[in-house]
Amino acid sequence: MSDFTSNFWEIYVAGITLVSIIACLVLLIITGKMKASTAGDNTTGHVWDGDLREMNNPLPRWWSYMFVITIVFSLVYLVLYPGLGSYPGTLGWSSAKLHADEVAKGNAQTAPIYAKFMSMPPEQVAKDAQAMAIGERLYSNNCAQCHASDARGNKGFPNLTDGDWLHGGTPEKIKETLLGGRNGNMPPMAAAVGSSDDVKNLAQYVLSLSGSPHDSTRAALGKDKFAVCAACHGPDGKGMQAVGSANLTDNIWLHGFGEKAIVEMINNGKVNVMPAQAEKLTEAQIHVLTSYIWGMSNK
Ligand code: HEC
Ligand code: HEC
Repeated sequence: MSDFTSNFWEIYVAGITLVSIIACLVLLIITGKMKASTAGDNTTGHVWDGDLREMNNPLPRWWSYMFVITIVFSLVYLVLYPGLGSYPGTLGWSSAKLHADEVAKGNAQTAPIYAKFMSMPPEQVAKDAQAMAIGERLYSNNCAQCHASDARGNKGFPNLTDGDWLHGGTPEKIKETLLGGRNGNMPPMAAAVGSSDDVKNLAQYVLSLSGSPHDSTRAALGKDKFAVCAACHGPDGKGMQAVGSANLTDNIWLHGFGEKAIVEMINNGKVNVMPAQAEKLTEAQIHVLTSYIWGMSNK
């Protein structure tokens, strides 16, 4: 309610609420006092199905009182709790405050546990069963949607369990990845390589680097063209973690395997973003997650 720019609507809705409640009460009183015209034998004169006649008995007392109780309850509720426009209620209760209190309580409970983990190096945290149970939860809630629930990744989303790292697999590098995110960026390279045949030959050469099935004549023709790739992937194609370029010799293919996939990478390039977690998670949570991720490929 307080989100409106003027208070017209909150007064309007509060007015409707109060008028409706009072209208119920008035209706109850009026119908309680009204006498229907009866045909002398205490029926209303309505007859159905030949002989089914409607009696004119008043509502049972307890029934009427129940209506009155609901009306009193609603008025008491509206005094105690926020329900009328921006009026906060005498108890000062709000769902936002309830949530904040519960979060604070939860944080206070977990603070000593996290403090313990913060004082331990990641290699040691990775051996702590309780920390790993927490890490698994954090992973499921924040990472599984991209890296898959078993952390083995998917096309475009790296496998975190295989010991193959674009940006580095030491605890320091993993933490850096989580805190600041990563931006894997390969520019379109076709213009620097040459004709579409040159691009295909180069793709065959890239396949040869990992000993994958390839056409060796065409790979030999493409070899020289790799010079323009070496700046990022290294002269031997093993990749450079400082620029986050992939290792092309290991038969692990983040963006697909085969000539077609590699030609596509050369022609179109790729921007692949790992979102930063520093704003979403606490430092301690990132510390535990770092240990969890590191632990998966360092069993
Ligand atoms: C929106 C999708 C997305 C989410 C969510 C996400 N990631 Fe990533 N992550 C990526 C992508 C894409 C990359 C690859 C970046 C690149 O190509 O350079 C990546 C890269 C990484 C890397 C570096 C891998 C390497 O080889 O160096 C790590 C570690 C990682 N993510 C861990 C996590 C963890 C832990 C979480 C949960 C807190 C998480 N990610 C959440 C998409 C995501
Ligand atoms: C400016 C740096 C840069 C240059 C130059 C560059 N690359 Fe890349 N390349 C990258 C990065 C970074 C990635 C990882 C993309 C990601 O994070 O997902 C990549 C990924 C790839 C992949 C995907 C690997 C996989 O696992 O699926 C292939 C194939 C590739 N590059 C081939 C080439 C070839 C061939 C050339 C030369 C024509 C080249 N690259 C030039 C930076 C570069």
